[in-house]
Amino acid sequence: MITNTELEQKGNAFPSRIISFSKDVDRLDFATENDVALQITILRDGLLRFRYSTTGRFANDFSYAITKHASIGYNQLDIEEKEDCYSITTTKIICEVSKKGLKIKIYDRADGTLINEDELGFHWEESYEFGGDIVKMSKVSHDGESYFGLGDKPGHLNLKGKRFENWVTDSYAYGKDTDPIYKTIPFYTGLHNKKAYGIFFDNTFRSYFDFAQERRFVTSFWAQGGEMNYYFIYGPKMTDVVEYYTDLTGKPDLPPLWALGFHQCKWSYYPESKVKEVTAKFRELKIPCDAIYLDIDYMEGFRCFTWNKDYFPDPKRMVKELEEDGFKTVAIIDPGIKIDKNYWVYKEGLEKDYFCKRADGPYIKGKVWPGECYFPDFTNPEVREWWSGLFKELIEDIGVKGIWNDMNEPAVMEVPNKTFPHDVRHDYDGNPCSHRKAHNIYGMQMARATYQGVKKFSHPKRPFVITRAAYSGTQRYTSTWTGDNVANWEHLWIANVQVQRLAMSGFSFAGSDIGGFAEQPHGELYARWIQLATFHPFFRVHSSGDHGDQEPWTFDEDITDIVRKFIELRYQLLPYLYTAFWDYTERGVPLIKSLVMYDQEDVNTHYRIDEFIFGNSILACPVLEPNARGRRMYVPRGKWYNYWTDELVAGGKEMWVDADIDSMPVFIKEGAIIPKYPVQQHVGEKKIEEITLEVYYKKGKEDSQFFEDAHDGYDYTKGRFCLRSFKLTGRKNQLIIQQHKEGSFDGDCKNLKLQIHGLPFEIKTIQLDNETKSLEHLQINGCLTMIIDENFTELDLSGENGE
Ligand code: GLC
Repeated sequence: MITNTELEQKGNAFPSRIISFSKDVDRLDFATENDVALQITILRDGLLRFRYSTTGRFANDFSYAITKHASIGYNQLDIEEKEDCYSITTTKIICEVSKKGLKIKIYDRADGTLINEDELGFHWEESYEFGGDIVKMSKVSHDGESYFGLGDKPGHLNLKGKRFENWVTDSYAYGKDTDPIYKTIPFYTGLHNKKAYGIFFDNTFRSYFDFAQERRFVTSFWAQGGEMNYYFIYGPKMTDVVEYYTDLTGKPDLPPLWALGFHQCKWSYYPESKVKEVTAKFRELKIPCDAIYLDIDYMEGFRCFTWNKDYFPDPKRMVKELEEDGFKTVAIIDPGIKIDKNYWVYKEGLEKDYFCKRADGPYIKGKVWPGECYFPDFTNPEVREWWSGLFKELIEDIGVKGIWNDMNEPAVMEVPNKTFPHDVRHDYDGNPCSHRKAHNIYGMQMARATYQGVKKFSHPKRPFVITRAAYSGTQRYTSTWTGDNVANWEHLWIANVQVQRLAMSGFSFAGSDIGGFAEQPHGELYARWIQLATFHPFFRVHSSGDHGDQEPWTFDEDITDIVRKFIELRYQLLPYLYTAFWDYTERGVPLIKSLVMYDQEDVNTHYRIDEFIFGNSILACPVLEPNARGRRMYVPRGKWYNYWTDELVAGGKEMWVDADIDSMPVFIKEGAIIPKYPVQQHVGEKKIEEITLEVYYKKGKEDSQFFEDAHDGYDYTKGRFCLRSFKLTGRKNQLIIQQHKEGSFDGDCKNLKLQIHGLPFEIKTIQLDNETKSLEHLQINGCLTMIIDENFTELDLSGENGE
């Protein structure tokens, strides 16, 4: 283990003085006397890339993380030579590069605040073990500075005071303190002086981040090879940082709506009769569900792309019948290909020479579920193409709708390091390298190849993929889950943290194994977990199966009722979640936001963990302890309606919120307009002619959006969507709602049912698109309800002397 202690004594090398500088459009090149080269590229006004070389030469510039679709372009770029530094100015920042030591300082252009400053800056250690450099960067960490991000780390949301390692690892039954685990997302957001910036260290070797752990005023990151290559992203809003990072590493396409419904999984449901028994029970008990999963036992001896015909004699028929009952089938595919000379995938891989090899020639052989396996080199584009072709039968012929990629760290059993040896060779898209460099992106490239196959054969429908291992950018191809967790209360806390953290790391489409994968929950824990996951983008129960069942009806009837109530709520909120997902695909806006991201100006949010914002307007806070009838929580600034009681509370303080086992603290931001569908047993069950809009009165203005399309397919990319933008204006005696519609999608919706909460006055007149309507249009059942034409442009509800 490398530490950064007493750096000078440890033989680190540093850049000396700058001896040359040149500028080529958006690229600035600096060279030092001792052959260190620094290349700064200005990608956007607040987005700079820093690349250092210790030899004066740079290797081929290639990254799996950065997307070619990233938006680049800046408004201003000036560079000035000063006595002891070069100063780069854009419209957002000023960046200084010291002539001695290449140290960087970045300031906010508008008010001169120092945002980020190198401590020792770039330096390196020559590693005799690796025959190359360990590249290092250290930056000043300020008192009160907080750090967020880094993917799936299971500890406290604020990373300050901790050191982390990035090495994608199969981590069965991990805990709060296990590091590293399944994913490598070397991106963090720093927050200081209420201004946020991000650092993305795009280096796939084993890397480390130290957030003022070893030295109180230093944050550092380093990797066991490759380049010091990082992106500095200026906000100053945290959401902007995450949005720019997501834009840089890629936004996903819209998933099919069913993928946002409830999914039921177990290791494993087999034979066919068991699968059918489970799906029939969902329908019998009227618990909505959209997807059923087949874990490894559906295969013949765990051979990928085969079926166990004893358990599943006619998969095509089964999948079709499930589909007729509203269930999509999702099947698992692992990377290990069983060594079996009679197995077609193995034979093809061998003939084409597609498996990964040791440095000295033979294929790397490792044990996974099927026994001894070889592993495709997914870093070779030709192998990816072959792999995607393998999905033809599963997807196109049999009709499976989603693929679940697992064990793709790659996990290898019975070896101490749980994965390939370091010397294994990879193509790395024409940049041949060892496993030291390719390990962290192996799972990502498998998911990418899978995505390409599922996409091709699902066409004209949308693909659905889920992966366990990931590197930055994997969100472009797939959803993810947090791996093999455990059925205990601590893991409910961990699930909450991990899904928030993934969202802050650009990977919003994430969830945990509800109820816990290892061991078995009791009913209370299961119910509380369902409640939390109702507000997670990916909503799936999964368990290892050997510790008992985890279907919604496994516990007593009261628990089943609570589970149904929350799954029903999820189905009602689908149009709201889908709108948030559309925003994520368009702008990279995270689907859930930790409180610090929601209101970074309020320092009370900086150490908050449990509460988060689902979409833009729903505040959720899980109950994380047994035997609780409520909890204390922090309600952020602004006014919020208690979802269950409509009570309006003023935030900016901690408060007690009642939440017996059948409830959970949920609040709606005042002024929000939340679209809701009726409860359906699965997406597409009902023709929805009337959509409910829950309108929450506010004195003041608030904008909301509601996006709809065909919920699958690609017509929305040709304009066939319906985007409703609402403007709500509330006054003492008046509420005005304006609607602006865009797009040419014409769905089934004819009417909008407005349910108005918190109106402080009695309505005397109603004007709809400038026509006066009689008060008979109003119904009062719990809250004020009005049904109006879906094409309305303005609704004006006024009280006495309205305005
Ligand atoms: C791994 C996965 C788990 C799966 C099991 C069997 O442990 O993480 O989700 O059920 O393998 O395939």
